[in-house]
Amino acid sequence: MYFPAYRPRRLRKNENFRRMIRETRLTVDGLVLPLFITAEKEFKKPIASMPGHFQLSITYAVEEARAARDLGIPAVLLFGIPARKDETGTDAYSDDGVIQRAVREIKEAVPEILVVTDLCFCEYTDHGHCGILTEEGVDNDATLEIIAEAAVVQARAGSDIIAPSGMMDGAVGAIREALDEEGFDATPIMSYSAKYASCFYGPFRDAAESAPRSGDRKSYQMDPANSDEAMREITLDVEEGADIIMVKPALPYLDIVRRAREEFDLPLAAYNVSGEYAMIKAAANLGWIDGERAMLEALTSIKRAGADIIITYFAKDAAKLLAGR
Ligand code: PBG
Repeated sequence: MYFPAYRPRRLRKNENFRRMIRETRLTVDGLVLPLFITAEKEFKKPIASMPGHFQLSITYAVEEARAARDLGIPAVLLFGIPARKDETGTDAYSDDGVIQRAVREIKEAVPEILVVTDLCFCEYTDHGHCGILTEEGVDNDATLEIIAEAAVVQARAGSDIIAPSGMMDGAVGAIREALDEEGFDATPIMSYSAKYASCFYGPFRDAAESAPRSGDRKSYQMDPANSDEAMREITLDVEEGADIIMVKPALPYLDIVRRAREEFDLPLAAYNVSGEYAMIKAAANLGWIDGERAMLEALTSIKRAGADIIITYFAKDAAKLLAGR
């Protein structure tokens, strides 16, 4: 009778065995907390589809950054909701735009935390698309000019990392060149390299008030069916000077995270997006799953797939749980 010589259960007998041979360890070190910042004053409004998250005025955002720092979270990622939207999203590249003001205040009050600025126009344009809109759609090269401007304005405000998320061709190169020309050669770029046209951004678009008025983003964000194309997108960003590459969303795209890990040696971020957060929160609130365990399992899986950095709305909850161990 055949009997296996190797019995994997030998090393699963108790927690001491299990922790000794554990391959992946989730730590607070790679977590990034996203914040939604409005130009309103004294404002803190819950986001219905993202329990535990709020639209925050700058003063409250400073508080959140401080709380994140106290939990050992290394970075926050800022999204702006401007007072006024217009055709080209002017607030995104004005020195006194909401995000620029927020960066200055956070860096002044909590200098120890890294501030990452999302660079896109969908929250700032009245049409809700990620760039300059023409009859034929978003004009890539016209958008590159305001992307470059916004990057310099963010860097001047004190942003530690510029994170272009609009999926315009050539964005990383345009930003790198503009930053270097203005003396910001030490400011890194974290590029949303492989960003898919995903329904999992739904809650975010409520939070950031950034849903497109008409049409969708399929002419610039990627087709969820494609994997080879993601590698081409990442290759371009690497060639253009990206310092950190990103795959987004995370959980439905763990194969892409793993492939990016194997094919590229730059630091890799994965964005555990709003819909991924909302699903776990909703099921947990209904008593259908254990929310804490689901969170840790999901984050550990993203890390196991190969991400160094995880951008997640769970950052504070996870940091608290990890500290309690
Ligand atoms: C801006 C941007 C989006 C997200 C991050 N940056 C929305 C979009 O592309 O529609 C989504 C993040 C999330 O869902 O948590 N372009």
